Amino acid sequence: MARKFFVGGNWKCNGTTEEVKKIVATLNDAQVPPQEVVEVVVSPPFVFLPLVKSTLRPDFHVAAQNCWVKKGGAFTGEVSAEMLVNLGIPWVILGHSERRQLMGESNEFVGDKTAYALSKGLKVIACVGETLEQREAGSTMDVVAAQTKAIAERISNWADVVIAYEPVWAIGTGKVATPAQAQEVHCELRKWLHANTSPEVAATTRIIYGGSVNGGNCKELAAQPDVDGFLVGGASLKPEFIDIIKSAV
Ligand code: G3H
Repeated sequence: MARKFFVGGNWKCNGTTEEVKKIVATLNDAQVPPQEVVEVVVSPPFVFLPLVKSTLRPDFHVAAQNCWVKKGGAFTGEVSAEMLVNLGIPWVILGHSERRQLMGESNEFVGDKTAYALSKGLKVIACVGETLEQREAGSTMDVVAAQTKAIAERISNWADVVIAYEPVWAIGTGKVATPAQAQEVHCELRKWLHANTSPEVAATTRIIYGGSVNGGNCKELAAQPDVDGFLVGGASLKPEFIDIIKSAV
């Protein structure tokens, strides 16, 4: 089964109401390949989710950037999976390196969050990736495998998971992974899934790349056989996000 190209736009902690409306208007006017060819999901900050969901074109979808690890309750400042489902938000990004590094989210915590979000009916963009130190120490695959293992041990429904490989050293730095570097990790990750989940999961799970993707470098990355799309940060706030969506074909 062919894997449908997936392009996510992670707006991170950016935007005002006016800026969000402008980005949505740009997306709504864009001519892009049909949703049978490319799945587009944008992820605004929590507070803008209802606005974006109600104004975004129907062939694009919306993701939250995080959710709580279990049922809501006395957890000040958190947003539960149930709330996202209640708002009709289909996707959530979990385990982004900014949360792993800045908020101290462990592999196990991200695995628990992924399992809980899936159990509530959300689809998950699960992020993995190594730091520069880990890459230089030759442990990229060990790190990525351990992050994926903590998820694999807790879930069985891979149909609703997209894995985003995001090397930390490439995020927001302008230092994009080369197509060969991205392909190497994606291919190894797919082999890991083959050995540790099932051949079907390995063949069908989308593995997307994130880290300084832009309108200029997306085509070559998209041409790699195991790169099934992108998770875009900075460039998803700009009109060049349309060019990245178009790299699906
Ligand atoms: O989630 C997106 C990634 O962190 C990539 O961000 O495109 O700004 O490097 P970036």
